[in-house]
Amino acid sequence: MTERAPVSRKPRVSEKLSAIAESATLKVDAKAKALQAAGRPVISYAAGEPDFATPQFVVDAAAEALRDPANFRYTPAAGLPVLREAIAAKTFRDSGLEVAPSQVIVTNGGKQSVYQAFQAVVNPGDEVLLPAPYWTTYPEAIALADGVPVEVFAGADQEYKVTVDQLEAARTDKTTVLVFVSPSNPTGAVYTPDETKAIGEWALAHGIWVISDEIYQNLVYEGARAQSIVEAVPELAGQTILVNGVAKTYAMTGWRVGWMVGPADAIKVAGNLQSHLSSNVNNIAQRAALAALTGPQDEAEKMRQAFDRRRGLIVAELAKIPGVTVPNPLGAFYVYPDVTGLLGREWDGVRIETSLELADFILERAEVAVVPGEAFGPSGYLRLSYALGEDQLLEGVQRLQRLFA
Ligand SMILES: Cc1ncc(COP(=O)(O)O)c(C=O)c1O
Repeated sequence: MTERAPVSRKPRVSEKLSAIAESATLKVDAKAKALQAAGRPVISYAAGEPDFATPQFVVDAAAEALRDPANFRYTPAAGLPVLREAIAAKTFRDSGLEVAPSQVIVTNGGKQSVYQAFQAVVNPGDEVLLPAPYWTTYPEAIALADGVPVEVFAGADQEYKVTVDQLEAARTDKTTVLVFVSPSNPTGAVYTPDETKAIGEWALAHGIWVISDEIYQNLVYEGARAQSIVEAVPELAGQTILVNGVAKTYAMTGWRVGWMVGPADAIKVAGNLQSHLSSNVNNIAQRAALAALTGPQDEAEKMRQAFDRRRGLIVAELAKIPGVTVPNPLGAFYVYPDVTGLLGREWDGVRIETSLELADFILERAEVAVVPGEAFGPSGYLRLSYALGEDQLLEGVQRLQRLFA
């Protein structure tokens, strides 16, 4: 009798990673791009990236860096010293926080900073307060750090901004971190300085770390200012990690340069992690980011103004659809309509209960790609990025107006 090897009950691949979902926003965007490639006239509001070219002087700096053999070698894992200095200066300029370059780590996009920030301050079982709707990466990054995301939901009636009372109600003795994102992806909401201060003071009083994602801080409108939580409450700096990057402000999503800034102990452990994970960010891209941060800012300002015009257009046109509520987004390049008024009804013979079904219906019938609220928290919402040309932008919303007339 031949003996069979016992069937192993061990999972073949990591259980922890098997629980991680594919990025929903990238998935919708990929589906839209595939349909476009197949010749369908799809208009996509799914992408989370500016449609502009990176400013020429930034590209020129990268071209020049390509000719310098120093850039062909490994450089310090935490980033080029000159770039860390420029980031420290930018942090002072825009977030009102004075930091040493040693408190900065340059990462492969803000995304790596988000990941490393949770790894740096979360221990197994720690609860992380996550205001919802949230950017789709946070819950996964929290889970990868063995933390437990605790969603705190704020709907359109409160302009998608959580209050101190809501945070306090969600706080337990396991609460270790608060995620704070202003301007927000997906809602475009910007906390006022007073709201920011109140939340900062609450976190300070309870010894809660704050991971403050400021990647959209320069994209604000109507005179709004996304005051940094560490500027609002300077004493909070010892328990705050700031996340930022060049992707959104300078149309540099593909260059992959972001950074984290924080107190020495958190930066030390995050830096050790990065030294084993990815080492230094591509030197050419670091040189390009240096040019973006230290060069003229007028092109970034022109892009911001273009976003502002598109924002006005899309908000006004979406608001004309009966059953759609559109809080006015004051930052980033997203609008997040509440579409609960369109749900639980039949459209064109199809009964639609959730925003997921609604997004599918819209793609199928109107050839318009939007990301359903389910990617960011509860059903009942759609995220539309207005990082596309004005003609397309208008045409897409008009298709929605006709579909839901
Ligand atoms: C809120 C937020 N944080 C961080 C990032 C990361 O950006 P990147 O990794 O391209 O720098 C994004 C990108 O979509 C974002 O929306």
